[in-house]
Amino acid sequence: MIKLRHLTIEDSKDYWLAHDKISEKNFNSIPKNIQQARKEVNKHIKHYSVPVNKREEECFAIEYNGEFAGWINIHDISYEHKAVTGSLVAPHFRKKGVGTKAHKILIKHAFKKYKLKRISGRLRAFNKASGRMLEKSGYKFEGRNVKDYKRNGRYYDHLVYAITR
Ligand SMILES: CC(C)(COP(=O)(O)OP(=O)(O)OC[C@H]1O[C@@H](n2cnc3c(N)ncnc32)[C@H](O)[C@@H]1OP(=O)(O)O)[C@@H](O)C(=O)NCCC(=O)NCCS
Repeated sequence: MIKLRHLTIEDSKDYWLAHDKISEKNFNSIPKNIQQARKEVNKHIKHYSVPVNKREEECFAIEYNGEFAGWINIHDISYEHKAVTGSLVAPHFRKKGVGTKAHKILIKHAFKKYKLKRISGRLRAFNKASGRMLEKSGYKFEGRNVKDYKRNGRYYDHLVYAITR
């Protein structure tokens, strides 16, 4: 059973351990130790107390049969308009449909709570898992931003997916 719930500071260790080598390639930065994880989790927690129509982000722990299986967030929220999703499933929970199910739950929640018309996701073109997960969650492929991202002197494309109401 997959459930989304707000993060607590006690999730910091699982949050840190969920970030592996693959996620390092797919995000700008990942927490390198428990202190950095605690800082990030704390930042997410602070957003929960902001009034809904002014909130920029809402991040959830993904629970799989009661265990911490990753996180999913809705960020860059523009109330009554649009937002962006991001997610990470811990390595040993991947390829079980956890990411797809978490997106379906989040999308339903976010369209209603923030009165959205558009939710998008942006990923590096080599991230096949993320693209497939978004398609299975109902997002449509919109386009490719060529050489949008630079790392170690190399340029990579971003792909944009979105779901609208
Ligand atoms: C992307 C991620 C969240 C997907 O989570 P997940 O729980 O494994 O996804 P699902 O099990 O719901 O899989 C969805 C689809 O993607 C496919 N998929 C999963 N991993 C894949 C991979 N490495 N390569 C190709 N397809 C893959 C699944 O097979 C499934 O498609 P199918 O039903 O047609 O077979 C997970 O791989 C992850 O955390 N990656 C590292 C962090 C990351 O990249 N986050 C996104 C940044 S934009």
